[in-house]
Amino acid sequence: MNQDELKKAAALAALEEIRALAPGAIIGVGTGSTVNHFIDALAGSGILLRGAVPSSEASAQRLAAHGIPLIALDEIGAGALPAYVDGADEIDSGFNMIKGGGGALTREKIVASVAHRFICICDASKKVATLGRFPLPVEVIPMARSQVAHEIARLTGGIPRWREGFVTDNGNHILDVSGLTITDPRALESDLNQIAGVVTNGLFARRGADVLLLATASGIERSERAG
Ligand code: 5RP
Repeated sequence: MNQDELKKAAALAALEEIRALAPGAIIGVGTGSTVNHFIDALAGSGILLRGAVPSSEASAQRLAAHGIPLIALDEIGAGALPAYVDGADEIDSGFNMIKGGGGALTREKIVASVAHRFICICDASKKVATLGRFPLPVEVIPMARSQVAHEIARLTGGIPRWREGFVTDNGNHILDVSGLTITDPRALESDLNQIAGVVTNGLFARRGADVLLLATASGIERSERAG
């Protein structure tokens, strides 16, 4: 199987997690090529949902094109999102992730933060021993971009590069930070978010995944975070 086929296999496995929810549930839906497979499969699955809270304009458009009702986060009550399905750029054995390759990290983090369970769908290439080979995306307020880049370099020793020409759904810029070996993802996530001008960063450690559906050449490996 090639990488795209593995992404599709992970997406199909997530359908079974959603099928197990109460009929009429609302779910959170992430962003990216793996999630696109999930949205397409969800549309033809016969699963009865009240709707989906999207993490990006791109996912909103895809859901709407399939006739899946869109629900704004503001419209739902506390505890009303039993599951959030999303991909990752890297995931480690502690279920910490780097996300934001598609630039949707801030809305992804918001929707994930209110979901009861984060179901991560990935092909096997995303599983790593230590996070950091994939450049860490950081969403920044445009006027602060250069200053934030200097501060990130000083703080981490990493190399921030402006994702030129890309504007997030929130009207902001992205710095992709390479050269990191992230041994304490929770601490780095917090430290980067303290820099004035940072909206958020693509480390999902304080709110990591709960379930990982990892598509490998020999099938789906399902694992749950301990505790
Ligand atoms: C988008 C993300 C995606 O989940 C991540 O980039 C993985 O994407 P793909 O499924 O296309 O490999 O964080 O902001």
